[in-house]
Amino acid sequence: MDVIVGSESHLEQMEKLVSSWYKDGTLPESFIWPPDSRPGKLAAAPSCKNIPVIDLGGAEGGDHTYIIHQILEASQEFGFFQVINHGISDTLLSDTMSVLKEFFELPLEDKASVYSEDPQKSCKLFSSSVNYDAEDVHLWRDVLRHPCHPLVECLQDWPQQPSRYRELVGTCSTQVKKLALNVLELISEGLGLGTGYFRNELSQNLILSVNHYPPCPDPSLTLGLTKHCDPNLITILMQEDHVNGLQVFKDGEWMGVEPISHALVVNIGYQLHIISNGKLKSSEHRAVTNPCNARTSAGFFVAPSYVCVVEPARALVSASNPQLYKSFQYEEFLRNFNTMVFEGKSEFAMESFKLQT
Ligand code: OGA
Ligand code: NI
Repeated sequence: MDVIVGSESHLEQMEKLVSSWYKDGTLPESFIWPPDSRPGKLAAAPSCKNIPVIDLGGAEGGDHTYIIHQILEASQEFGFFQVINHGISDTLLSDTMSVLKEFFELPLEDKASVYSEDPQKSCKLFSSSVNYDAEDVHLWRDVLRHPCHPLVECLQDWPQQPSRYRELVGTCSTQVKKLALNVLELISEGLGLGTGYFRNELSQNLILSVNHYPPCPDPSLTLGLTKHCDPNLITILMQEDHVNGLQVFKDGEWMGVEPISHALVVNIGYQLHIISNGKLKSSEHRAVTNPCNARTSAGFFVAPSYVCVVEPARALVSASNPQLYKSFQYEEFLRNFNTMVFEGKSEFAMESFKLQT
């Protein structure tokens, strides 16, 4: 009897997932954002072609210097770029996206074993930004989040359904990690930090966050994800074809990041901004919804280990370039970041790590 009661209340809790009820066609008040943060007409803004698309095909050969130049320029100007010819096969990307979409289409009962709103649980399907019961306004999304590294240690906690989930996401995450390390190597060279600067504790963790944004009756009033910068080192994001949603804030305007088939979006996280002593930019971005199509995106977050000490690279600090941030443990940064997100003040997440100059 206990078991049944327990599982009923677990299923009841799952009503917090937007995917469990959005088909009733309503936009509950608790999803309506205040006027200054809702997207309004910009929810339907067309995507923009300005964000650089970088061909990594020649990274090993003669184009090496040019590719580094493009990556550095995009990271300074936009904090965002897309990569093509990145070495991950089109088939693997398409199959992985399909299996992630299939996961969210499974009946609620099949997702129950991974559902949890417990912040301590590492692999989970959940609905909140930080704390569902305590937050004023909810996001129009469900998330599946779990670590991907070391693979053998985390694999057994991942969803067992769809049946190819572990195989595809395992292979894809291994290849994304390799790609991220290659991009970091190019950045390291571009910054003048030599080789292998990031190939250590700074890039030890890989977390996958699969965002699922169901179709929404009024995208002008709500958000899939509020304006934020990523707290980690660097993020590789896989977008679904043909469905807009990701927007970057640049020069006071929101720009849509065009979904390009088999391209991957790369963005600079706060840790890379700090290590570069402010040279590379972490840009604010958000996700908007649309009334027609569900949208799924997969963010692979490369992050330092929790105990890793992060600080501006010594080689980038000089009398004319004073150190802008203090050194700290990544865990401390993350704790502060999560508090700031919860309080709706994520744009101030860097304040307590800045040095007076
Ligand atoms: C994120 C993120 C954007 C998207 O998960 O941090 O910015 O398009 N996602 O889902
Ligand atoms: Ni983000």
